[in-house]
Amino acid sequence: MSSNIAGVGAPPSPVKPRPDASGRGTSRHQRPARILVVDDEAHVRSMIGVTLERQGYDVQMAGCGREALEALERNAFDLVLTDIVMQDGNGIALLERVHGQQPQLPVVMVTAIHDISVAIDSMRRGAYDYLLKPFEREHLVSTVQRALDHRQALQESHNYQQNLEQVVRARTEMLRQAMEELEHSYDVTLEALGDALDLKDSETEGHSKRVTAYTIALARAMGISPAEIKVIARGAFLHDIGKMAIPDEILRKPGTLNPDEQEVMREHCTRGYQMLRKIPFLSEAAEIVYSHQEHYDGSGYPSALRGREIPVGSRIFAVADTLDAITSDRPYRRARSFDAAREEILRCSGTQFDPSVVEIFLKIPNELWHELRSEITGQNTRFSTFDIASSIPPRPH
Ligand SMILES: [Fe+2]
Repeated sequence: MSSNIAGVGAPPSPVKPRPDASGRGTSRHQRPARILVVDDEAHVRSMIGVTLERQGYDVQMAGCGREALEALERNAFDLVLTDIVMQDGNGIALLERVHGQQPQLPVVMVTAIHDISVAIDSMRRGAYDYLLKPFEREHLVSTVQRALDHRQALQESHNYQQNLEQVVRARTEMLRQAMEELEHSYDVTLEALGDALDLKDSETEGHSKRVTAYTIALARAMGISPAEIKVIARGAFLHDIGKMAIPDEILRKPGTLNPDEQEVMREHCTRGYQMLRKIPFLSEAAEIVYSHQEHYDGSGYPSALRGREIPVGSRIFAVADTLDAITSDRPYRRARSFDAAREEILRCSGTQFDPSVVEIFLKIPNELWHELRSEITGQNTRFSTFDIASSIPPRPH
């Protein structure tokens, strides 16, 4: 026997452990399976030990429950074979300790024929199997092998699950990176669209970026989700993209537009919508482009929507757009202050603007708008809804 618990008194085994030709007795890591045999009768321990060692198993022995627990603390086992009725403690208590601490470690109960009901009860408490004394050596060997196969199957299943979880984690990370790259390429596409409009209508250079930053700040202050803010930001950035379809003589006309020209100019909302709605990642933003000139009281265009019929992103954008328009130079007038913009926006609350958006807007200090404006003026980086969203200070309370 490879070891012997002190005081048990079992004789040393005359047989050296060796795996048989079928590989029986070795675990999947090619070490002999380690079995703890617990019995208070020395001759039973010895018979079991000799039989199992001949099969190539690494057998350790204990004469009582306490010795068994000590052995279990010192070594890792693949199987426990325990007598049910022992002088010092009983096998059921040991079973419950083992099952509670190492649920994957199978326990086979060994008992006399008159303990059959106890043996069956032990199975309900987590024992893998039981052996009735007296038993044939072949029966002992086949029961042990079955229990070890069961343990191996449990371990393989556990390992498989762990591997699977690792694979899922790795794939999720790959997907996240791919989405990030895709998101970046979306932003590059948006930038190209913005550049194209700037070439045609350079008067409002910087306006799209500023109005996008203001819209994001307002949307955050209103408690809108980051995913929805991303859509709204794209709509804000591209709000005038439909002007690409407006003839230059109208778009660049220095004076006031006549009614016919105004009518053509107003088509930019629908033209922008038609351009974007077929692009999957911009289809939701297209709704904001379509309704960015609507007024809260229904006096806007193109559909004279009113109140909450207008998408919330467009209602927020309307305030941000006016804020930037008033505080930016135009060829025919100088920029006015943020306080002047506040007054104008408050004056139009309930007519042009949604009063709930205006209420939130008024709680935001001018410093934030100044900060965003100077940040964008000095910005050489490409447009990114992600970067802008992350640079906005937290919402005011
Ligand atoms: Fe517009």
